Amino acid sequence: MNDPTQRISELRSEAEAAIAEAPDTAALEELRVRYLGRKAELPNLLRGVAELPPEQRGIVGRTANEARKGLEALVGDRVAALEAAELDARLAADRVDVTLPGAPPQPVGRHHLLSSTRREIEDVFLGLGFSVMEGPEVDLVHYNFDALNHAETHPARNRSDTFYVADEAVLRTHTSPMQVRAMELYPPPLYIIVPGRVYRRDSDATHTPQFHQVEGLAVDEDVTLADLKGTLLAFARAVFGDERDVRLRPHFFPFTEPSVEVDVSCFNCTGGFMRDGSRCPLCKGEGWIEILGAGEVDPNVFEYVREHGYDPDRIQGFAFGMGIERIAFLKHGVPDLRMFFENDLRFLEQFG
Ligand code: DAH
Repeated sequence: MNDPTQRISELRSEAEAAIAEAPDTAALEELRVRYLGRKAELPNLLRGVAELPPEQRGIVGRTANEARKGLEALVGDRVAALEAAELDARLAADRVDVTLPGAPPQPVGRHHLLSSTRREIEDVFLGLGFSVMEGPEVDLVHYNFDALNHAETHPARNRSDTFYVADEAVLRTHTSPMQVRAMELYPPPLYIIVPGRVYRRDSDATHTPQFHQVEGLAVDEDVTLADLKGTLLAFARAVFGDERDVRLRPHFFPFTEPSVEVDVSCFNCTGGFMRDGSRCPLCKGEGWIEILGAGEVDPNVFEYVREHGYDPDRIQGFAFGMGIERIAFLKHGVPDLRMFFENDLRFLEQFG
């Protein structure tokens, strides 16, 4: 009978050589099954020790057991070494270069110049204690004209000037109808501004059929033209610069008495003239630029809301109305009003 210890040594050397060369943990697992698994030769030899002649059992059992333990330890060491190497390789391959720029920022867009101008105006008046209200763009003739003291023959009532949606309803031609609606809703004192869209049958370089206004209304006891002037001076300085002055010129509006047009001192020149002595193109040499209409609320308007707490013998008010396009176009030198509505990116991207 041949010597099993010889075979055990052969198996051990063969297995050791294969384990040393195993390229990865999967290959090692295969070798473990091949040399140490349930059906492998070495464990079988161990299991067969009992059948050997007594003088061989000790030496064969010891040799086989040592071989098995040695191989198990070797596999364990190699698995640990390979796992460490594989982890290192993965870490090296997955390395993040934290010095690379992040994902490029997505463009988030910007406010349209009219929106940013409206917000700027709102901010100024909120700071002066006014609240912001909005109203319907389709309104009754009653609010748009009648309650604002427009004569039956007022030209703005014509269908050639105003969009009628019914005999008694129009696309509002100004934000002023909200004066009466607001007074119906809230008793005095009342300090509001009303931004919004308005509509007129007009279309050229300085008129578009739809545009935007901000109405203002302040009603309280003893509200005078001086309060109006101070309020509008604060507004003009906030929007056009600290050096600005305002002046009031007599004018006519049906719903204010007295009525004024309000000019701001030109912010493009000094007294109408440029540094080189030429005439200022913005104010046309006037030194003043018209920015809005205003006045003291006509008592006839208060008569429409007398039962809501507006007794013209007890309270007074001032009102004003400005075009948002006009403010934006003066401030930013926009040459044609239609540019606000054409959505040309070359224009839009210059603002906001
Ligand atoms: N509603 C007038 C317009 O559209 C502007 C205006 C003038 C509003 C005088 C007012 C005001 O509140 O007092 O032309």
